[in-house]
Amino acid sequence: MWENPNPKYLKMELFDVYPLMDITPVAAHGCYITDQDGVEYLDLYGGHAVISIGHSHPHYIRRISDQLERIGFYSNSVINPLQRELAHKLGEMSGLEDYQLFLCNSGAEANENALKLASFATGKGRVIAFSKAFHGRTSAAVGVTDNENIRAAINQGQQVTFLPMNDASLVEKELAAGEVCAVIIEGIQGIGGVHVPDVAFMQDLEKLCHRYNCKLVLDEIQSGYGRSGRFFAFQEANIKPDIITTAKGMANGFPIGGVLISPDIQPRHGMLGATFGGNYLACAAGLAVLEVIEDENLIENACKTGAYLDDELGKISGIKDVRGRGLMIGLEFEDDVKSLRTRLLKEKHIFTGVSSTNIIRLLPPLSLQRGQADVFLEAFAGLLAP
Ligand SMILES: Cc1ncc(COP(=O)(O)O)c(C=O)c1O
Repeated sequence: MWENPNPKYLKMELFDVYPLMDITPVAAHGCYITDQDGVEYLDLYGGHAVISIGHSHPHYIRRISDQLERIGFYSNSVINPLQRELAHKLGEMSGLEDYQLFLCNSGAEANENALKLASFATGKGRVIAFSKAFHGRTSAAVGVTDNENIRAAINQGQQVTFLPMNDASLVEKELAAGEVCAVIIEGIQGIGGVHVPDVAFMQDLEKLCHRYNCKLVLDEIQSGYGRSGRFFAFQEANIKPDIITTAKGMANGFPIGGVLISPDIQPRHGMLGATFGGNYLACAAGLAVLEVIEDENLIENACKTGAYLDDELGKISGIKDVRGRGLMIGLEFEDDVKSLRTRLLKEKHIFTGVSSTNIIRLLPPLSLQRGQADVFLEAFAGLLAP
């Protein structure tokens, strides 16, 4: 019998890339998570803006379970009516009925396809992105992400110019230099620290992209699907981007990504593709999310509860800046927030997110109720009181 000469390798271990919170969730309902000791936590992080309709929503469970009983997967070589149903519902609810939908599996993959599409459509290869941008970790997506630490040598080939946000004259200068296929921008910058681009800047970007035959790509992966209090955050500026990418909140945790493509970009067979993209279960999950958002007026709730939180947080002293829109809120502090977040978690049983070292990010389910917001406000004010 074969004997392993190095027993150290007997058990496969995980590739250790994630700094972990010392919590093991075993159940979750609505805006709450329960750990293995039965402790309940208020979830203001939503697994990184993913939980849009609340954990374990009964309609969501039913729709996915029913679908699984019938057919869970087949490849994109057959007709899957759920894909068209999802596209129709998404078009109707976002007000973008004239767009086309390409389905994939994650945010990075959506951006990868969006940039490729912009390059196909214009025949050009340079991209303009913005300081502090995060667009994902795959090749083209990480190339337009403003973080040297996550870019490997193999990702250095991309032709990208990073510019400061909200300066349209710099964008025009770069476009005039030629060969730019895409300008990519987040609807609201997430990982960069919840920075909302100026409405006038977004409108300038739309005009400039048309003038220089370049595609405006709106990354709504974190800010979309109702989080900002509108279906997509860019809709505040009343513009029509050429390409919009979505993922996180789209299926409440079931892996999915989407690229919404304006009608003047023509598809051709083989141009894009993905084995798992738009599978039956992903579509059922995506439809369930849209149905719950509609039935429970969750976009209106995100707008109202977000405005309430914003007002009340503005009254708490010790916070340097409160920014964002709807239920995408950044709380900037002078100092590191690590111990504040740990105390929120361990003493108050509240999950929050973070950006950089000094910004707390709130990305709760869009179903967060005012009473739950009050639980957080009281706990937070208590921890910040001198
Ligand atoms: C704005 C934005 N774009 C893209 C991504 C990448 O998404 P994924 O992790 O699904 O690849 C993220 C993830 O945090 C994001 O916040």
